[in-house]
Amino acid sequence: MKAWRLHEPGGPGAFVLEDLPTPGPEPGWVLIKVAAFGLNRSEWFTRIGESPTVKLPRVLGIECVGTVVRAPSGELEEGQRVAAMMGGMGREFDGSYAEYTSVPAANVFPLETELPWDVVGALPEMLQTCHGSLHTGLGVEPGETLLIRGGTSSIGLTTLAMAKAAGLRVISTSRSDAKVDVLRKAGADEVVIDDGKLGPTIRHDCPAGVDRVLELIGTTTLLDSLQCVRPGGVVCMTGILGGEWELASFRPMGHIPTGVRLTSYSGGASDISREDLQRYVSLVERGELTIRTGPVWSFDQLPLAHQAMDENRANGKMVVVVE
Ligand SMILES: NC(=O)c1ccc[n+]([C@@H]2O[C@H](COP(=O)([O-])OP(=O)(O)OC[C@H]3O[C@@H](n4cnc5c(N)ncnc54)[C@H](OP(=O)(O)O)[C@@H]3O)[C@@H](O)[C@H]2O)c1
Repeated sequence: MKAWRLHEPGGPGAFVLEDLPTPGPEPGWVLIKVAAFGLNRSEWFTRIGESPTVKLPRVLGIECVGTVVRAPSGELEEGQRVAAMMGGMGREFDGSYAEYTSVPAANVFPLETELPWDVVGALPEMLQTCHGSLHTGLGVEPGETLLIRGGTSSIGLTTLAMAKAAGLRVISTSRSDAKVDVLRKAGADEVVIDDGKLGPTIRHDCPAGVDRVLELIGTTTLLDSLQCVRPGGVVCMTGILGGEWELASFRPMGHIPTGVRLTSYSGGASDISREDLQRYVSLVERGELTIRTGPVWSFDQLPLAHQAMDENRANGKMVVVVE
């Protein structure tokens, strides 16, 4: 099979297109013919050398959609449409930047959908992350106000769509005036330009503070996000778009206001049930959940897709179509 393999960290050109043996699935694993895969920041971090636990060379790719070729333990029928994600895919074992991938059955989700691969390919990891952030991380309730920090990211835009569908009021952010319309068209009730200090702006709109904050920029804005929330409200850190993994100094008694709750979400495939994933995919298929997708690339364009990630040009989830 053809696969893009990373031997050394580097720029978008660091991937090498190689002929590799098609993985034979072990018992309990499923061999998938990859039809499409979404691109993820975690793969980008691995490419630039920021994922020390990923041993190279490695075929990256933490998710895919496609069809079952073989499931030796009989969990799934040959030809079944599936999504696969996480569980070490593209990190501990070779992932989806390939024509075929072999994945533990627990991380494979059967899908009933006629959506084209370039659309369904955008969904698995994104739906799982947004669902997990909203429900496992933030525990949202209808009628609450949610601030999404890093709102133009694909995770930010999908969470916005899901939160609106769940009856929340959403304030979303970008650093750029040029992207305000993107957020308004995606359904944001309010758009705020993020200069790193949102506390006073948010308090002007919501004097008591918002109910929930989804923090996608990470440690560079986290302390400020804690100042945006009402007592009893929750800040959930799911992303690290700011690129800083650690806080230079953290004084919990001073930085976390009384009664405010701080948590994180870095969950996996087990945070979304097969039923919930199918429910979201069906909502997308019926036009009841709008996911803003970014550019679609062909398999040979993978380095160009990574370059677009370098330059923040996606404005939605990017997908590579393999077949
Ligand atoms: N926890 C999990 O399970 C999980 C799963 C998937 C993804 N994630 C994380 O979620 C985050 C979003 O991922 P994504 O793939 O949706 O991202 P993405 O679509 O590539 O995000 C692009 C956006 O990020 C913003 N951005 C880029 N650099 C920034 C910086 N230095 N400071 C502030 N904003 C910056 C830009 O927004 P503006 O130009 O509009 O400001 C840009 O539009 C990432 O950190 C990713 O690692 C977490």
